[in-house]
Amino acid sequence: MHTPATVVILAAGLGTRMKSRKAKVLHRAGGKTLLNHAVDTALELAPPERIFVVVGHQADEVRASVATAGVGFIEQKEQLGTGHALMVGRDRLAPLNGNLVITYGDGPLLRAATLQRLIDTKEQSGAAGVLLSAVMEDPTGYGRVLRESGNRVASIVEQKAATIEQLAVREANMGIYCYDAGLFWRHVDEIRPDNPAREYYLTDMVEILGRAGHAVEAMQIEDARECLGINNRVELAEVDRLLRERKRRDVMLSGVTIEQPETVAIDCGVSIGMDTEIGPFTQILGNTSIGDNCRIGTGVVIQDCQIADNVEIGPYTILAHSRLEHGVIAGPFARLRMDNVVEAGAHIGNFVELKKTRMGAGAKANHLAYLGDSEIGAKSNIGAGTITCNYDGQKKHPTRIGEGSFVGSNSTLVAPLTVGTGAYVAAGSVITDDVPADALALGRERQIVKEEWAKKRRQRAAHRP
Ligand code: UD1
Ligand code: MG
Repeated sequence: MHTPATVVILAAGLGTRMKSRKAKVLHRAGGKTLLNHAVDTALELAPPERIFVVVGHQADEVRASVATAGVGFIEQKEQLGTGHALMVGRDRLAPLNGNLVITYGDGPLLRAATLQRLIDTKEQSGAAGVLLSAVMEDPTGYGRVLRESGNRVASIVEQKAATIEQLAVREANMGIYCYDAGLFWRHVDEIRPDNPAREYYLTDMVEILGRAGHAVEAMQIEDARECLGINNRVELAEVDRLLRERKRRDVMLSGVTIEQPETVAIDCGVSIGMDTEIGPFTQILGNTSIGDNCRIGTGVVIQDCQIADNVEIGPYTILAHSRLEHGVIAGPFARLRMDNVVEAGAHIGNFVELKKTRMGAGAKANHLAYLGDSEIGAKSNIGAGTITCNYDGQKKHPTRIGEGSFVGSNSTLVAPLTVGTGAYVAAGSVITDDVPADALALGRERQIVKEEWAKKRRQRAAHRP
């Protein structure tokens, strides 16, 4: 039978060394808050009703930040130690049988696979608990794993309380555990704050269970960096770097080409299809998905977009909250600001800005335009310099351009406005009234030509004394 797991994420601390008004777990690395990483990892091991976040500092903000995940919360009003963080959740947690997994909200590098190995190790060994440890070059600051004869884990001693001999131990406690829930809750009251810090140390559980005749084991991980907890902004930047390095590697191994990968930032939540190529200095952020065979140029910024297959994004293009269908070409230097849909095969050229606009299939706006709150029909051509005047100083108004229409260069389209299917707007027009289908609208002065005017002017100038 599969033993169910409960995951408790400790996240009550403020993180004083962040020097921030914001709780530590709300800071971001790899495009997600630290707590979001921890919750997403937990969700790979347990259903949301078996995941609990211990909140304390800025409890409301911390809760709100992961509310959509459907996880539970335990409030720890006063932070009296890692053991206390569990104790305050006893009413909710103790009835849940199976494995009790304990992790931190500030360690986003920890992989779900590592936690799964921790659980498997406990299951296979029959121990009452397994802790994650690592043999480190410099374990300063960490609790040390103390072993007895026969290599049995006997206890953990905190840095502050350790003797000189104990400080020489290089096996460090990563602070991540899997306990048998029944045994844990039966003995939890034996954790006492009898240390100089007057804190309830979760680490005491190892010795307590040992005294009661139960074994606790340590599972060593190769790379202690996976358990790196963030304490200050230098460490935040380092973890962000590691997360992005890991993401780029995953993306490349799944069939994506990245030029000069060290210059490219891809958030953890991004997915990218096979044979897509990404140029240097590009950022792909948020919940973006990109299809197969796309070409993303250099210096592009993409935030929360859905991009289909065979799309080409030219250099220095900025895309946010937009959907680009199959075969679209956008940029260089285009800006799709928000809520745009660009249908299959449409072209958005340089210095074209789109906001809340639907570009129909095969429509083109190839140079210098602003299209806001508008619908551009399929196969329409929008000339260079076209501006939808969507704002009257108080309200925004829509512009609708029918299929197969042609808007001449430098047209000013004053919304609300409808240009019918197949209509033409003459270049340089200011269009304030609707244009019927198949019509030509001219909204400009008729041209005056003065024959010989220039020549005469030159002659006058030549005769002036
Ligand atoms: C803890 C371990 C130490 C281990 C280290 C690994 C204890 C006593 N020590 O020390 O052996 O090497 O982790 O990083 O457990 N927290 C709460 N409520 C509290 C106290 C802490 O939610 O009352 C949270 C903090 O927000 C933090 C985490 O628990 O995310 C760890 O707490 P911290 O006090 O930093 O423990 P360490 O000193 O790192
Ligand atoms: Mg710590």
